[in-house]
Amino acid sequence: MTTTTARDATTRTATVPPQRDVVLHVEGVVEHGDQRGRLLGFPTANIGVPEHGLRDGVWAGTVQLDPEHDGPVHVAAVSVGHRPTYYGKDGDRLLEAHLLDFAGDLYDRRVLVRLHVRLRPQRRFSGSGELVEQMQRDVADTRAWAAASLPRNEPETRAATTGNTPSAQ
Ligand SMILES: Cc1cc2nc3c(=O)[nH]c(=O)nc-3n(C[C@H](O)[C@H](O)[C@H](O)COP(=O)(O)O)c2cc1C
Repeated sequence: MTTTTARDATTRTATVPPQRDVVLHVEGVVEHGDQRGRLLGFPTANIGVPEHGLRDGVWAGTVQLDPEHDGPVHVAAVSVGHRPTYYGKDGDRLLEAHLLDFAGDLYDRRVLVRLHVRLRPQRRFSGSGELVEQMQRDVADTRAWAAASLPRNEPETRAATTGNTPSAQ
Protein backbone atom coordinates (compact mmCIF):
# COMPACT_ATOMS: atom_id res chain seq x y z
CA MET A 1 0.00 0.00 0.00
CA THR A 2 1.31 3.44 -0.79
CA THR A 3 1.32 6.24 1.72
CA THR A 4 0.83 9.94 1.56
CA THR A 5 2.78 12.13 3.91
CA ALA A 6 1.91 15.71 4.54
CA ARG A 7 3.54 18.42 6.59
CA ASP A 8 1.82 21.48 7.96
CA ALA A 9 -0.84 23.28 5.99
CA THR A 10 1.23 26.20 4.73
CA THR A 11 4.65 24.77 3.93
CA ARG A 12 3.68 21.20 3.34
CA THR A 13 4.68 19.24 0.33
CA ALA A 14 2.71 16.19 -0.46
CA THR A 15 4.74 13.10 -1.19
CA VAL A 16 2.82 10.52 -3.06
CA PRO A 17 4.97 7.71 -4.41
CA PRO A 18 4.25 6.87 -8.05
CA GLN A 19 1.81 4.07 -8.36
CA ARG A 20 1.06 2.08 -11.47
CA ASP A 21 -1.83 -0.03 -10.45
CA VAL A 22 -5.44 0.91 -10.21
CA VAL A 23 -6.71 -0.04 -6.78
CA LEU A 24 -10.49 -0.20 -7.02
CA HIS A 25 -13.18 0.45 -9.60
CA VAL A 26 -16.73 1.53 -8.83
CA GLU A 27 -19.17 2.18 -11.66
CA GLY A 28 -22.58 3.76 -11.33
CA VAL A 29 -24.99 6.50 -12.34
CA VAL A 30 -24.60 9.95 -10.74
CA GLU A 31 -27.39 10.60 -8.25
CA HIS A 32 -28.99 13.84 -7.17
CA GLY A 33 -27.44 15.13 -3.92
CA ASP A 34 -28.39 17.84 -1.46
CA GLN A 35 -26.20 20.50 -3.15
CA ARG A 36 -24.15 21.34 -0.05
CA GLY A 37 -20.95 20.50 -1.90
CA ARG A 38 -21.68 23.24 -4.42
CA LEU A 39 -22.19 25.75 -1.58
CA LEU A 40 -18.87 24.71 -0.03
CA GLY A 41 -17.10 25.23 -3.36
CA PHE A 42 -16.53 21.50 -3.83
CA PRO A 43 -19.33 20.12 -5.97
CA THR A 44 -19.40 16.34 -6.07
CA ALA A 45 -20.77 13.61 -8.29
CA ASN A 46 -22.37 11.07 -5.96
CA ILE A 47 -22.87 7.42 -6.76
CA GLY A 48 -24.12 4.47 -4.74
CA VAL A 49 -21.43 2.73 -2.79
CA PRO A 50 -21.14 -1.02 -2.26
CA GLU A 51 -21.47 -2.24 1.32
CA HIS A 52 -18.33 -4.33 1.22
CA GLY A 53 -14.91 -4.13 -0.35
CA LEU A 54 -14.48 -0.37 -0.27
CA ARG A 55 -12.76 1.33 2.63
CA ASP A 56 -14.11 4.63 3.95
CA GLY A 57 -11.76 7.57 3.53
CA VAL A 58 -10.59 10.19 1.08
CA TRP A 59 -8.92 8.89 -2.05
CA ALA A 60 -7.00 10.27 -5.00
CA GLY A 61 -8.29 8.83 -8.23
CA THR A 62 -10.00 9.44 -11.51
CA VAL A 63 -13.53 9.59 -12.87
CA GLN A 64 -14.28 8.50 -16.42
CA LEU A 65 -17.47 9.85 -17.96
CA ASP A 66 -19.56 7.52 -20.09
CA PRO A 67 -17.06 4.64 -19.76
CA GLU A 68 -19.03 2.47 -22.19
CA HIS A 69 -18.09 5.03 -24.86
CA ASP A 70 -14.52 5.60 -23.61
CA GLY A 71 -15.41 9.08 -22.35
CA PRO A 72 -12.91 11.56 -20.93
CA VAL A 73 -11.04 10.80 -17.69
CA HIS A 74 -10.79 13.48 -15.00
CA VAL A 75 -8.58 13.54 -11.92
CA ALA A 76 -10.74 13.52 -8.77
CA ALA A 77 -10.59 13.71 -4.98
CA VAL A 78 -13.07 11.10 -3.79
CA SER A 79 -14.74 10.82 -0.39
CA VAL A 80 -16.24 7.52 0.77
CA GLY A 81 -18.14 7.56 4.07
CA HIS A 82 -20.91 8.91 6.24
CA ARG A 83 -19.96 12.64 6.30
CA PRO A 84 -19.52 12.69 10.11
CA THR A 85 -19.15 16.48 10.16
CA TYR A 86 -22.83 16.83 9.34
CA TYR A 87 -24.45 13.56 10.31
CA GLY A 88 -22.41 11.98 13.12
CA LYS A 89 -22.48 8.24 12.56
CA ASP A 90 -26.00 8.25 11.16
CA GLY A 91 -25.40 9.64 7.69
CA ASP A 92 -25.95 7.60 4.57
CA ARG A 93 -22.73 6.14 3.26
CA LEU A 94 -21.85 7.85 0.00
CA LEU A 95 -19.16 7.92 -2.63
CA GLU A 96 -18.66 11.56 -3.62
CA ALA A 97 -16.19 12.50 -6.32
CA HIS A 98 -14.96 16.07 -6.71
CA LEU A 99 -13.62 16.35 -10.26
CA LEU A 100 -10.70 18.74 -10.53
CA ASP A 101 -10.93 21.50 -13.13
CA PHE A 102 -14.38 20.43 -14.21
CA ALA A 103 -17.58 22.41 -14.35
CA GLY A 104 -20.76 20.83 -15.54
CA ASP A 105 -23.80 18.81 -14.67
CA LEU A 106 -23.19 15.09 -14.31
CA TYR A 107 -26.58 14.02 -13.02
CA ASP A 108 -27.79 10.73 -14.47
CA ARG A 109 -24.50 10.20 -16.33
CA ARG A 110 -22.75 6.84 -16.00
CA VAL A 111 -19.29 7.19 -14.51
CA LEU A 112 -16.42 4.88 -13.65
CA VAL A 113 -14.54 5.89 -10.50
CA ARG A 114 -11.02 4.55 -10.03
CA LEU A 115 -9.65 4.83 -6.51
CA HIS A 116 -5.86 4.76 -6.55
CA VAL A 117 -4.41 6.11 -3.28
CA ARG A 118 -6.12 6.45 0.08
CA LEU A 119 -5.09 9.85 1.42
CA ARG A 120 -6.70 9.81 4.88
CA PRO A 121 -9.71 8.65 6.91
CA GLN A 122 -12.98 10.57 7.01
CA ARG A 123 -13.07 12.92 10.01
CA ARG A 124 -15.57 14.93 11.95
CA PHE A 125 -14.64 18.61 11.69
CA SER A 126 -15.91 21.38 13.94
CA GLY A 127 -17.63 23.04 11.00
CA SER A 128 -17.66 23.75 7.28
CA GLY A 129 -14.67 26.11 7.48
CA GLU A 130 -12.32 23.42 8.78
CA LEU A 131 -13.70 20.86 6.36
CA VAL A 132 -13.17 23.22 3.41
CA GLU A 133 -9.54 23.83 4.46
CA GLN A 134 -8.98 20.08 4.59
CA MET A 135 -10.64 19.55 1.21
CA GLN A 136 -8.26 22.14 -0.25
CA ARG A 137 -5.37 20.03 1.06
CA ASP A 138 -7.02 16.89 -0.33
CA VAL A 139 -7.18 18.52 -3.76
CA ALA A 140 -3.51 19.53 -3.51
CA ASP A 141 -2.58 15.96 -2.54
CA THR A 142 -4.65 14.62 -5.42
CA ARG A 143 -2.88 16.94 -7.88
CA ALA A 144 0.48 15.80 -6.50
CA TRP A 145 -0.51 12.17 -6.94
CA ALA A 146 -1.71 12.79 -10.50
CA ALA A 147 1.46 14.69 -11.45
CA ALA A 148 3.65 11.95 -10.00
CA SER A 149 1.73 8.94 -11.21
CA LEU A 150 -0.60 9.41 -14.13
CA PRO A 151 1.91 10.25 -16.91
CA ARG A 152 3.79 7.07 -16.12
CA ASN A 153 0.71 4.91 -16.05
CA GLU A 154 0.00 2.42 -18.74
CA PRO A 155 -3.26 3.25 -20.47
CA GLU A 156 -5.81 2.45 -17.84
CA THR A 157 -7.80 -0.68 -18.40
CA ARG A 158 -11.52 -0.63 -18.79
CA ALA A 159 -13.51 -1.78 -15.79
CA ALA A 160 -14.61 -5.36 -15.81
CA THR A 161 -17.49 -4.54 -13.51
CA THR A 162 -21.04 -3.47 -14.00
CA GLY A 163 -23.24 -1.97 -11.31
CA ASN A 164 -21.69 -0.60 -8.15
CA THR A 165 -19.39 -3.48 -7.40
CA PRO A 166 -15.81 -2.68 -6.46
CA SER A 167 -13.11 -4.76 -8.05
CA ALA A 168 -9.49 -4.99 -7.05
CA GLN A 169 -7.04 -4.53 -9.92
C1 LIG B 1 -12.33 15.48 -1.01
C2 LIG B 1 -13.44 15.36 -0.01
C3 LIG B 1 -13.14 15.07 1.31
C4 LIG B 1 -14.15 14.97 2.26
N1 LIG B 1 -13.84 14.68 3.56
C5 LIG B 1 -14.82 14.66 4.49
C6 LIG B 1 -14.50 14.42 5.88
O1 LIG B 1 -13.36 14.16 6.28
N2 LIG B 1 -15.53 14.49 6.78
C7 LIG B 1 -16.83 14.74 6.40
O2 LIG B 1 -17.69 14.82 7.26
N3 LIG B 1 -17.16 14.93 5.09
C8 LIG B 1 -16.19 14.89 4.15
N4 LIG B 1 -16.51 15.07 2.82
C9 LIG B 1 -17.92 15.09 2.43
C10 LIG B 1 -18.52 16.45 2.52
O3 LIG B 1 -19.07 16.63 3.81
C11 LIG B 1 -19.65 16.54 1.48
O4 LIG B 1 -19.10 16.41 0.19
C12 LIG B 1 -20.39 17.83 1.57
O5 LIG B 1 -21.04 17.91 2.81
C13 LIG B 1 -21.44 17.92 0.46
O6 LIG B 1 -22.40 16.94 0.67
P1 LIG B 1 -23.48 16.62 -0.47
O7 LIG B 1 -22.75 15.88 -1.56
O8 LIG B 1 -24.47 15.78 0.23
O9 LIG B 1 -24.01 17.92 -0.97
C14 LIG B 1 -15.50 15.16 1.87
C15 LIG B 1 -15.78 15.43 0.52
C16 LIG B 1 -14.78 15.54 -0.40
C17 LIG B 1 -15.11 15.83 -1.84
